[in-house]
Amino acid sequence: MRNRFHEKIVLVTGAAGNLGRAYSAAFAAEGAAVGLIDIDGEAAEAVAAKIAATGARAVGFGGDITDDSAMEALIGNCIETLGGVDILVNNAAIFDNLASYVGEGLRAPSLGTRVSTDHWRRVFEVNVFAAVTLARLCRPSMIERGGGVIVNQCSSSAWSTVGAYGVSKLAQRGVTLCLAQELAADNIRVVGIAPGLIGASQMTEELMAQKPGYKEMSHFVLDNQLIKRFANVEDLLPMVLLLSSDDGSFITGQTILVDGGFVKNIG
Ligand SMILES: NC(=O)c1ccc[n+]([C@@H]2O[C@H](COP(=O)([O-])OP(=O)(O)OC[C@H]3O[C@@H](n4cnc5c(N)ncnc54)[C@H](O)[C@@H]3O)[C@@H](O)[C@H]2O)c1
Repeated sequence: MRNRFHEKIVLVTGAAGNLGRAYSAAFAAEGAAVGLIDIDGEAAEAVAAKIAATGARAVGFGGDITDDSAMEALIGNCIETLGGVDILVNNAAIFDNLASYVGEGLRAPSLGTRVSTDHWRRVFEVNVFAAVTLARLCRPSMIERGGGVIVNQCSSSAWSTVGAYGVSKLAQRGVTLCLAQELAADNIRVVGIAPGLIGASQMTEELMAQKPGYKEMSHFVLDNQLIKRFANVEDLLPMVLLLSSDDGSFITGQTILVDGGFVKNIG
């Protein structure tokens, strides 16, 4: 096991969710102290307690990342509790109803005018604007500590751009480049990781049944990937750790696809 994040402090948003949990544990396993932020504070604390039981430093924090004043207080609290921040992982997001894609193909203009402007606004608030707010709040501590890394969790949907979710992820690719240009002078790299569909292989028949259309959609993705297996969160960990560590020290402004060739194949 490498120890690339020894003495590093990492904040992960959406840390109680599928990917956030795994990312937080992976950073901790390589020596980081981790602050786990989620709107579900109890769940964040429970995940943090599990990670802390492995001997790592992990603390859970509850808060809505779209609430600017709450975030100002929360990031202040994270910095005070953990001692600063070196790496921010903007992972939290909300989705459209994926089932709506089914039968229309991922390139169909399926969820544009048929969802409300309030829906678009909320998706952009969580998936795009909050990442900028958190970058702004973390920047002074990163500068004080000699630099840092911001990792924006994107999605292959940024290329298929279906619905508010896909468009928000496309906007996030732009935010990654914009912040990379601005923050390079502060020795802060800003990078994105864009997974394809994750976790379908772990879905039981029972869970699949609760999510109508999910099975069909996951097979659409699988059929169009060049690598013919479902992706797992473990497929993402080497890339997120590389981008966040000195192994990725010459990479900034980029969003890297980890999608089994799906986007390249659908063109
Ligand atoms: N799961 C996939 O197949 C997949 C594929 C590509 C990209 N992604 C991206 O990965 C990230 C994580 O996805 P996931 O599958 O783990 O999702 P998830 O729903 O399991 O986790 C998301 C977490 O974000 C939290 N959250 C939502 N709104 C919040 C808010 N306003 N403030 C604070 N926390 C909030 C939720 O409580 C949840 O714990 C997202 O950015 C998603 O777009 C996921």
